[in-house]
Amino acid sequence: MKSHAMNIHFDANSAQPIYLQIYQRFREAIAEGLLKPGDRVPSLRSLAAELNLARGTVETAYEMLVGEGYFLAQGQAGTVVAPFLGEHAGQLRRPDEMVPSPYQRSRNLSETPPALRMGLPALDAFPRKLWAKLGCQVLKSATAADMGYPSPLGLMSLRAALAAYLNVSRGIACKPSQVIITDGYRGSLDLICRAFLQTGDQVWMEDPGYPAAMKLMQAAGGAIVPVPVDQAGMVVNTGIAKAPQAKIAVVTPSHQSPLGVTMSLERRLALLEWAANKQSWIVEDDYDGEYRYASRPLPALKSLDVQDRVIYCGAISKVISPALRLAYLVIPESQIAHIESVCQIFQNGCPWATQATVAEFITQGRFSRHLKKMRTLYKQRREQFVQALQETFGKDIRIELQAGGMHLVVRFNKDYDDQYLARHLNEAGLAVHALSAWVMQYPCGQGLIMSFTNVHTLDYARELAQRMKQVVISSL
Ligand SMILES: Cc1ncc(COP(=O)(O)O)c(C=O)c1O
Repeated sequence: MKSHAMNIHFDANSAQPIYLQIYQRFREAIAEGLLKPGDRVPSLRSLAAELNLARGTVETAYEMLVGEGYFLAQGQAGTVVAPFLGEHAGQLRRPDEMVPSPYQRSRNLSETPPALRMGLPALDAFPRKLWAKLGCQVLKSATAADMGYPSPLGLMSLRAALAAYLNVSRGIACKPSQVIITDGYRGSLDLICRAFLQTGDQVWMEDPGYPAAMKLMQAAGGAIVPVPVDQAGMVVNTGIAKAPQAKIAVVTPSHQSPLGVTMSLERRLALLEWAANKQSWIVEDDYDGEYRYASRPLPALKSLDVQDRVIYCGAISKVISPALRLAYLVIPESQIAHIESVCQIFQNGCPWATQATVAEFITQGRFSRHLKKMRTLYKQRREQFVQALQETFGKDIRIELQAGGMHLVVRFNKDYDDQYLARHLNEAGLAVHALSAWVMQYPCGQGLIMSFTNVHTLDYARELAQRMKQVVISSL
């Protein structure tokens, strides 16, 4: 049987890949009745030769058409338009009537995040070359077992590498079996809630505090108890007075999110004592604890936890990249079996190659070197951004510089509405947050929260500050 002749046109300059154009031409031809069920289509080789394309390009298009049921591959007998389509021909939609195909997405289409967006490390400082090298090494050395399902607890080499790092750098004495790998802070909180929270249990949350954490704890059934924050961190006595029986307290002791203050030793001890007395859990979110500019990073709250009441949450997003989608927990030793059983039910496990590459990055000493480099870089970027803001806004602003962290809280000395300003700044592409939007019950004034980690030069800092000023002036 001769194959059905069909003119295929494609546009080599189109943003759409050629295989996708071929796929769509065949879909159109079937929908329009130019190709009928049972018609034989050209062989891969002849179509590739006719169109002067690599065989793999045509093969990808054919594989999609076979996979979606439009073509039927018959081996030696060639490939035909699926005969069963006869009954359904009238129902077929042309591809251009369909919702955009996911194949059209290109990794090059994603936008660069705005420079002031909170929570991002310096994206220009991601160690690409080293990552490519380590990634290659890791993949080359992969065993067949590595290609199976990853453990829901995390890759053991990464758990061991993190335990060693935490012992040395954060003062946390833990075993690899206490380290659980998750897909981000939300994943960590979700696991904690599944393991320890019952619907209606009270949860202390810092006020102001990270809205994403509050929303998750609430959605997991927690009854949120806002606890104020002052210069010494969460006011533990207020928490005790309001909800002494709370099940969980979520805190950011290294640099409170968003105010940046460090929890005092007195408050840390009071919090640990309360948790030990009530058999409650403290969730320590140490998202940017490594970034301290005035002195060495402080040991984590978990390092004081002799009664084993602290669940430590560490981030990979802030120290390497959020694109890796990895985070980790250090769980109390007494809870290993319980959390493992929860993980077996609810955790998928994280991608093996990513975990193995991060493990290599840590064990080869690259992680500590990278952190050291980032500390110097952020100190410099923070200084130059503060300088640019002060030059531009003069006495109209106040910046309470904290000992560390990855963002600034900029206060206005005028009576500005921070949410109104943030809305206008965001419309102008300057992704900032209004401080008052992070408040639940205890107002702490107006201000704008913004990152400095991606403000790479003083000139750029000045340009951003000028843009901010123009938006502020034009929106008032
Ligand atoms: C307060 C706080 N905790 C934790 C995280 C880490 O979140 P993730 O692991 O999803 O990147 C962030 C990120 O912005 C944060 O702001």
